[in-house]
Amino acid sequence: MLYRKFYEQAYHKYLNEENINDYILRVLIMEVQGMKQDMSEFFLNDAELKDEKLLINYIERVIKGEPYQYVIQKARFLNNDFYVDSRVLIPRLETEEMTINLLNIVAKNCKNKQINILDVGTGSGCIAISLKQKMKNAKVFASDISQDALDVAKINCKKLHTNINFLYGNMLEPAITQKLKFDVVVSNPPYISNFKEVSESVLKYEPHLALFAKNGIDYYEIILKDIRKIINKTAFVAFEFNYDQKNKIEDLILKYLQNSEYTFYKDFASKWRYVIICIK
Ligand SMILES: C[S@@+](CC[C@H](N)C(=O)[O-])C[C@H]1O[C@@H](n2cnc3c(N)ncnc32)[C@H](O)[C@@H]1O
Repeated sequence: MLYRKFYEQAYHKYLNEENINDYILRVLIMEVQGMKQDMSEFFLNDAELKDEKLLINYIERVIKGEPYQYVIQKARFLNNDFYVDSRVLIPRLETEEMTINLLNIVAKNCKNKQINILDVGTGSGCIAISLKQKMKNAKVFASDISQDALDVAKINCKKLHTNINFLYGNMLEPAITQKLKFDVVVSNPPYISNFKEVSESVLKYEPHLALFAKNGIDYYEIILKDIRKIINKTAFVAFEFNYDQKNKIEDLILKYLQNSEYTFYKDFASKWRYVIICIK
């Protein structure tokens, strides 16, 4: 059967089911066909379906609630396909927005300078690797307390031909111990305090170490109270946070970084989502 014929049939058969939609169905077909994940290619081509049994297995796993990115072991982030599996959080759109904005700000302010960047809690390595790709002059470090996550980040580093320095350990501790100094520190730490805030699928499949923080804002305070130990005289710090944490994050900035300038940003859903702080 041709893959577009399968798509037509599957469209009617599966799209009333939960967890699957038209986009995901096409992604799964393209994956089995070994096609580049480029939607315009889907309808421009057609070919014999390569492995119907495998495709049906993928569809059934998605319908049962497994995120399609884990099924195909790929997640798109800033024009790259990152390898992902259940050892790491699936990179989110909001994180992409923060990374783009940070890139623009740092590029404008640190033109041609040799800078050091640290990504705390790197997971799949999506932030660190994307920053390194766009800022060739930067020396980029990425840390995590999960050796499993670091293993995945290293796979991505190799896959995407980037050079990152990995640090294993708790928050800023490895950087402090090694007396490293940075011009940019970025983190999307665990920030969910209530199990009820996440969907069943996230709860079942994504690593809890990447999601939960006892009081929600614990990790921002851990980072901010020691940030001066690991930064140069001027530095940028960027945090992603949960939509209802803006006021608490602002209190922490005022407590630990008086006289710094900072801007809060909303995400595509108009929810407060990240902050970029300029420390002088
Ligand atoms: C929300 S995920 C972010 C992953 C990735 N940076 C992203 O944006 O997709 C948080 C990451 O922080 C790591 N983490 C959790 N507790 C940590 C700690 N105490 N020290 C360092 N990393 C930690 C988790 O293993 C996870 O990879």
